[in-house]
Amino acid sequence: MQKEIVLSGIRPTGYLHLGNYFGAMRNYVRMQEDYNCYFFVADWHSLTTHPDTKTLRSSVHRVIAENLACGLDPDKAAIYVQSDVPEIAELYLYLNMMAYKGELEKVPTFKDKVRLNPDNVNAGLLTYPVLMAADILIHRAVKVPVGKDQQQHLEMARNFAERFNHRYGEVFPMPKAFNFNSDLVKIMSLDGKGKMSKSENQMATIYLSDSDELIQKKLKKAQTDQGPSAPGQQKPDYIENLFTLASLVSEPAVVNKFEEDYNNCQIRYGDFKKQLGEDMARFVAPIRDKALAIQQDSAYLDKIMRQGAAKARESASRTIKIVREAMGINY
Ligand code: TRP
Repeated sequence: MQKEIVLSGIRPTGYLHLGNYFGAMRNYVRMQEDYNCYFFVADWHSLTTHPDTKTLRSSVHRVIAENLACGLDPDKAAIYVQSDVPEIAELYLYLNMMAYKGELEKVPTFKDKVRLNPDNVNAGLLTYPVLMAADILIHRAVKVPVGKDQQQHLEMARNFAERFNHRYGEVFPMPKAFNFNSDLVKIMSLDGKGKMSKSENQMATIYLSDSDELIQKKLKKAQTDQGPSAPGQQKPDYIENLFTLASLVSEPAVVNKFEEDYNNCQIRYGDFKKQLGEDMARFVAPIRDKALAIQQDSAYLDKIMRQGAAKARESASRTIKIVREAMGINY
C-alpha cells in the first residue's frame, strides 16, 4: 500500500525553540517512519515579511541543520528548500487565478501583518495562503501537521484545491490537519506570557542554539511566586509550564519530588529551577552541538539539500504534469 503523504514547512525566520521541538519536530521524527514525508524550509514565504536577504542563507542552513540534529533522516523524509523546487512557483501562479482578493484580505494573519508593518503590504503577503496551498498541493499531500495559527491557511488550501478540481477535473486530494499525538504538548514562554516565540521575548524562550549557561540563566529568571498556600492547590499556568518542561527533560523521580513538595507547600522554586536548568541544558546540548557541527560542514549540507530537492522535484514535476494536462496547458 502507498504511504500517505505528510507535508510541513517552516519559515527560516528566527531561531527554533523548545516549543518547536516538542510541538512539531519530535513528532516529525516519528512520522517519517510511517508516512511519505516532505519537510521544507519556506524561504520564499519569509520574503513576504523579511525582504532583507543578508542572513537568509545562514538561516536556511541553520534550520536544515537543526532539523537534522533533532533526528530527521534525509534517507526517509524529503528535506528541502522551497526555492529549489520551481514547480511550486508555477502551481502558485495557477492557484492565484482561483484566489479572490476579498477572501485573502479577510485572513487574520494577513490583517495582523498589515497592522504590524503598514509600509510593506505587498502582493506576496496577501497571497501568502496561496503559496502555502501550492506547497501542500504540489505533492498532493493529505496530512499537514500544523498548529492552530495555520488552520485557516489550511482551510484555504482546501478551498483552492476544490475550486481547481471543480473547474479542471479531480487532481488534488483534500489536505487535512494532522495531529500525530492527539495530546500535543504546549510549551509556554517562561514569563507566563503566551507561547515560546521564534523571535520575541528571547529571555523567556529556550532556543535549541542556547548555551548551557544561557539556558540556566533563563530558567533562573522564569516566573514563579510565593508558592502554594494550601495543600494540593491548583498550579498557576507558569508553574504548570515548568512542570511540563520537567516532565519532558528531567528524571521521573525528580519531577515526583517537586510535585510532592508543591502539594505539601514545601516547594523551593529556586531549587526546582536550578535542577530544571541543569536537566534542560543536558537535553539541549547534544542537539545544539550536532546542529553546529552540521552547519559547519557545508559539503554535507549541500549534499542533503540537493538530495532533498531531487526527491521533491520528482514528486512536484509529476503533479505539474497532471495539472497542465487538466488545464489544457500541454501543447
Ligand atoms: N505558514 C507556515 C508557518 O508560518 C509555514 C508554511 C509554509 C507551511 N508553507 C507550509 C506549513 C505548508 C505547512 C504546510 O508556520
